[in-house]
Amino acid sequence: MFHRAAASKSLLRHAVSGRRLASTKTLKEALQEVIPAKQEQLKRIKSEHSQTVVGDVKVENIIGGMRGLKSMLWEASVLDPNEGIRFHGLTIPDCQKQLPAAPGGKEIIAESMLWLLMTGKSPPKPRLPTTLHPMTQLGIGVAALNHDSAFQNAYEKGIKKSDYWTYTLEDCINLIARLPALAARIYRNVYNPGTELRGISKDLDLVGNYTNMLGYGNNKDLTEYLRLYISIHGDHEGGNASAHTAHLVGSTLADPYISYSAALFALAGPLHGLANQEVLRWQLSMQKAMGDKASHDDIKAYLWKTLKSGQVVPGYGHGVLRKSDPRFIALQEFCDTRPDLMASPIINLVKKTYEVAPGVLMEHGKTKNPWPNVDATSGCVLYHYGLREFKYYTVIFGVSRALGALTQLVWARALGLPLERPKSLSMDVLEKIIESA
Ligand SMILES: CC(C)(COP(=O)(O)OP(=O)(O)OC[C@H]1O[C@@H](n2cnc3c(N)ncnc32)[C@H](O)[C@@H]1OP(=O)(O)O)[C@@H](O)C(=O)NCCC(=O)NCCS
Repeated sequence: MFHRAAASKSLLRHAVSGRRLASTKTLKEALQEVIPAKQEQLKRIKSEHSQTVVGDVKVENIIGGMRGLKSMLWEASVLDPNEGIRFHGLTIPDCQKQLPAAPGGKEIIAESMLWLLMTGKSPPKPRLPTTLHPMTQLGIGVAALNHDSAFQNAYEKGIKKSDYWTYTLEDCINLIARLPALAARIYRNVYNPGTELRGISKDLDLVGNYTNMLGYGNNKDLTEYLRLYISIHGDHEGGNASAHTAHLVGSTLADPYISYSAALFALAGPLHGLANQEVLRWQLSMQKAMGDKASHDDIKAYLWKTLKSGQVVPGYGHGVLRKSDPRFIALQEFCDTRPDLMASPIINLVKKTYEVAPGVLMEHGKTKNPWPNVDATSGCVLYHYGLREFKYYTVIFGVSRALGALTQLVWARALGLPLERPKSLSMDVLEKIIESA
């Protein structure tokens, strides 16, 4: 009997120990199969094309936060300005078709997304595990993460460079498995102090356990929503602030716990991960000012008020994308299939805002992308489902982004990528270069 959620969860648990479930590969074995070809590819590119020019460095790149500068390797996903994200070539609808869902659910589970990000392949379907070791449950609950880093431990003892990735993988999988328990504990401590955290259930996937531990296990729709959100938000190429921070810190050979904790601080800024909370705050104040029946003209007036006060319209614009974010569209489609969401005043306000905001932003004429990003809707759906503590929303994003950032850490070690060290210039030096150009 195959059981998809439990199967995927077992993939995570068994990936570390290397134990094999009958007729399946562990994640480590699957990686062992694909790494040599990638290493060869990198060697070939290096030896044959080291001097090939892939773009010019313009002044706008240097003073513009390296925007658009092609200067990083990032294996798991590529972001096209018009089409949006592809994970190893698969669009979000492709992933929704190909990757396993939880039992009774339709949305991608984070374990399948992690497998895809790591290996470039859809996960196999292993057998249902019959036991969940109590020590696994205990380990998941232990929050002293960096304290027992396998990589750090092995590095101190002395390991070969070619073995770095295996210890990194072990840490990354452990961290991903522990994050939901840690994140749920934070939620309980802050918003529901003194309550017991539910134990890990072997019948649930990672997100199913997460919502259960948060105290929303009975809300199947919220769980499905979080499966979709956590999977499709799992990676967005390497240049975004949190992913890049994980990569930069990881390039010093810091262990995955330290590298990802640094990424989480980058995620905490309002131009990045905090945007989902800002969108909700903004839509709620619009709702308060105009009521549930706001007309398109009312919303336009509110948008202009926001812009004229010198603020950005949260949930709109993007550093790379130049069309509506396919993640926004996927979340909208999720709403469209559920009558309660379609009837929700806050979701309707998000929709109506989408109908007018791009026009207003185009007329305003500043942003290069007047279209919505994923955060234009993400927090409002959580709000509708009763998860209303919006300062918590970025924590959920943090659980999700671990999938991509930690995948890249494994690949960076498998490919032996070097310490990141861009060259900085003073304005005087820059002007000299400009003069002689
Ligand atoms: C995401 C974001 C930070 C990208 O920044 P960026 O790459 O510098 O964007 P642009 O190149 O289009 O910015 C050009 C100008 O348009 C402005 N702009 C961009 N998005 C805007 C928005 N949603 N509302 C108002 N103005 C905006 C910028 O502030 C900038 O103004 P400036 O020239 O006075 O500095 C930006 O679009 C933004 O602040 N959006 C709102 C916050 C948000 O939703 N973040 C989540 C992103 S997933």
